Amino acid sequence: MIGGARTAPHPADATQGALPMDPVRHLYVHLPFCHHRCGYCAFVVETGGLDRRDAYLDAVIDEITHRRRELGALDTVYLGGGTPALMRPRRIARLLDAVADITAPDAEVTMEANPESVDAAQLEAFRAAGVTRLSVGAQSLRPHVLSALDRRATPAQVEGAVRCARRAGFRSISVDLLFGVPGQTADDVRADIDRVLDLGVDHVSWYELELKPGSALTRAGTHLPDEDDVADAYEAIVDALVAAGFEWYETANFARPGHRARHNVAYWRGRDHAGVGVGAVGTHGATRRRNAPGVDRYVAAVRDDGAAPHSREALSPATRRREAWMLGLRLREGVDMREVGEPDDVRALDDLVDAGMVHRDGSRVRLSHRARFVGNAVAGRLMDFGA
Ligand SMILES: C[S@@+](CC[C@H](N)C(=O)[O-])C[C@H]1O[C@@H](n2cnc3c(N)ncnc32)[C@H](O)[C@@H]1O
Ligand code: SF4
Repeated sequence: MIGGARTAPHPADATQGALPMDPVRHLYVHLPFCHHRCGYCAFVVETGGLDRRDAYLDAVIDEITHRRRELGALDTVYLGGGTPALMRPRRIARLLDAVADITAPDAEVTMEANPESVDAAQLEAFRAAGVTRLSVGAQSLRPHVLSALDRRATPAQVEGAVRCARRAGFRSISVDLLFGVPGQTADDVRADIDRVLDLGVDHVSWYELELKPGSALTRAGTHLPDEDDVADAYEAIVDALVAAGFEWYETANFARPGHRARHNVAYWRGRDHAGVGVGAVGTHGATRRRNAPGVDRYVAAVRDDGAAPHSREALSPATRRREAWMLGLRLREGVDMREVGEPDDVRALDDLVDAGMVHRDGSRVRLSHRARFVGNAVAGRLMDFGA
């Protein structure tokens, strides 16, 4: 716990539990099938067993039907994985048809796309099925970095996927990249920046590699690169993308004007969202729901009574306020204390303002430019995450 223990209830927490339960406007659907598990990946993934895709899709549609009352007019739909493209266009079309009557006409419908799993005809079919935004998992365009991550796609396949997606007419195209990869030099990062800018995408998510429990890299005892080198890589990425006209709107996300990821922004702003499918997580009011992993169990349970195996966690007002601060500070515009309440440590906020780490404008608080490189540490000074 970084901010100091606090036992008395925070005044802001008194009202937060009483917020009305609006219907959810953001839907995440988890499509878990992959051909193989990449070295850094700890997501809920099923390698092989593709013959279960129809049964899985039936179950997903049944779960949506079962939980229909939670959902309002959908502003965003996010098809994540796993490798959603392995569901092929006809299943994606069936899935989107199942929610067509509650999907807003201008909804953002994102699908993650692994470059090696899509071709031009499929991308056109995904577009025709109603996907508006494609998020291409590149991770790097340097062969030895891809190989350190045990990725299957080649740089040429990444470039081909983006080119075909553009031709297919997606409204917005994003690429995911990683920095802080073992063996990735400053020159590799520079080369990735140059090639990403050449791709002409609308949005870039550039994450720092984390060694997740259970991933092959973690099990192999892999060491991450030196912290200072990783910080330099991050700064180089931010500087280059901002200079090229991208807005650095979230810690790891950059958008051309009008191309922020609406689904993810809703999440960072703490909006309610529903998660459907194995391992999917959602938050509605003061409840977090986590679906269990395991396709076979999921399919059987939904077939039996429509309900996916899941657990529920009651979120205390203090937890919700802390999460709202932690996620909101990731955004360029920061948080509005009229919405999220005050931080646990109000004096730390004053100190951070004096130190130039945080800007405060009325009730709005946001990180200064340099503090955005150390956002988690700043959030840790303001909030008692260990409490
Ligand atoms: C749901 S994941 C995977 C989507 C897709 N199957 C793929 O591999 O491209 C979305 C993104 O999270 C990021 N990611 C996954 N594992 C990560 C890790 N261990 N550390 C940091 N970022 C990670 C990657 O950039 C990835 O593209
Ligand atoms: S990183 Fe993506 S493609 Fe690789 S195993 Fe994880 S979900 Fe599948």
